[in-house]
Amino acid sequence: MTNIKDVAELAGVSITTVSHVINQTRYVSDELTQRVFNAMEELNYHPNTLARSLRSGRTKTIGLLIPDISNLFFAEISRKIEDKGFEYGYSVILCNTDDDRKKEQSYIDVLLEKQVDGIVFISAGNSEDSLSKPIDMHVPIVVTDRDVKNFKSDVVLLNNRKGGYDATNYLISLNHQRIGCVSGPSLLTPSAQRVEGYKQALTDSGIQIAEDLIQMGDFRFDGGEEAMQKILSNPIQPTAVFVCNDMMALGAMRAINDIGKRVPDDYSLIGFDNIPLSKTVYPALTTMAQPIKEMAQLVIDLLLEKINLKQEQKRKAKGQPNYQRIILDADLIERDSCRKIGLIR
Ligand code: RIB
Repeated sequence: MTNIKDVAELAGVSITTVSHVINQTRYVSDELTQRVFNAMEELNYHPNTLARSLRSGRTKTIGLLIPDISNLFFAEISRKIEDKGFEYGYSVILCNTDDDRKKEQSYIDVLLEKQVDGIVFISAGNSEDSLSKPIDMHVPIVVTDRDVKNFKSDVVLLNNRKGGYDATNYLISLNHQRIGCVSGPSLLTPSAQRVEGYKQALTDSGIQIAEDLIQMGDFRFDGGEEAMQKILSNPIQPTAVFVCNDMMALGAMRAINDIGKRVPDDYSLIGFDNIPLSKTVYPALTTMAQPIKEMAQLVIDLLLEKINLKQEQKRKAKGQPNYQRIILDADLIERDSCRKIGLIR
């Protein structure tokens, strides 16, 4: 069984240099680094990660919990977070909780058993008590996308109320007065706040809110299709609909096409998220873009700051870290799914 001493001898460097190359704990020149990697490959040497983490107190792994990997918003933000984590030398363990609180809890237990250095948490839905164990174990956590009430942590969120307001105001600027809404699951903060913004925009423009033009979806394609079918069966028809995420907006498009109507000729649609698919469908979907790349960068920066601080605290026993609550804005992306209509007198 080869060991680090054999690698050092074959590479013609010290054991310390081999350790710095493996643990990235200090700069080593490209030439020496390559010699170490060549020696490791020739000897088929794989460092003992468990021993390494016991020594350093770190596993260089991060847990990421998301509610629905089939939703392209979560696929996109997971990819960006994983990219950033890997850039900083961390492996990211992705856990898909399927919007299920029990599954969420069991994955948190798995991550704690694997002694991840930190957790990025997107809640399956109102998960105040899901995080009690990692909190008790002082595992650094960053909450993003879905707020968790009364939880002291770094938080990176979107201003969902403003996003819903701006989306609806955009439709009003195109002379739409009868504007429907397909909401997400109302227990999740992003959807509830977007609908509040939608209602506020109507009220601010003196437009009466028609509750029967507001139907609840589930943030998925089928849920958007079913919610739009309910709106289409209403005696009073909207000329435009604000849909609280792009996956449901694609479903709503399908429901409109299925009755022989067209977007935007008969109905203008605006979505939310700006998933990659939104620009490839026909007509391309107008939407509110979430700053996913910026969110991922902030999430990783905040988490690594707390991981490093925790290491410091082990040495210096400092007080409570200061947490940040960062709120970002969505941007309107105008494409082809909305049109201006004549003013209805
Ligand atoms: O598309 C899924 C939705 O749920 C997104 O808008 C995101 O905000 C998440 O909360």
